[in-house]
Amino acid sequence: LAALPEGYTCRPLQRADYHNGFLDVLRVLTTVGDISEEKWNERFEWMARRGDEYFLLAITDGTKVVGTGALIVERKFIHNLGLVGHIEDIAVAKDQQGKKLGLRIIQALDYVAEKVGCYKTILDCSEANEGFYVKCGFKRAGLEMAHYY
Ligand code: ACO
Repeated sequence: LAALPEGYTCRPLQRADYHNGFLDVLRVLTTVGDISEEKWNERFEWMARRGDEYFLLAITDGTKVVGTGALIVERKFIHNLGLVGHIEDIAVAKDQQGKKLGLRIIQALDYVAEKVGCYKTILDCSEANEGFYVKCGFKRAGLEMAHYY
């Protein structure tokens, strides 16, 4: 497991992370929008009720969130009621990149996926991030298709 810098922690996302910079970390990845605390709480509770399906992690530097990632466990009929892990929304604050925080997030999510019984974990990424995921033990497989609405 990649060592975290002194004072950093890796833990499940908390409701209070609304005030801890979590959404700003996600803004490194893409558009987040203006999310009210009420809407945040609603979505957070929805995910929390599905605690065996949604695993969201936060890395903190002791005061604020500096990295995050999610594992969504999909239930299938195929492969004997198999479970597939989906890694989503991996982001590390710009000024914290290159400290192995991304690697640590993937390792933690991979561990959860294996522990809950997923037979594989998959993710989509840009060509520019392929090298990162290769270093995390993933390999190129298939092709992504998308239909935006
Ligand atoms: N290409 C090739 N290698 C890379 C890249 C890259 N883009 N990024 C990191 N690496 C390498 C590092 O050099 C390191 O290699 P080493 O072990 O030989 O030193 C190894 O991968 C681990 O790197 P970390 O320090 O853990 O990477 P970091 O903490 O900076 O996180 C991340 C990487 C998550 C891609 C970060 O740069 C980021 O947040 N980028 C912007 C948002 C983003 O693109 N997220 C991923 C979207 S895909 C998805 O969410 C499924």
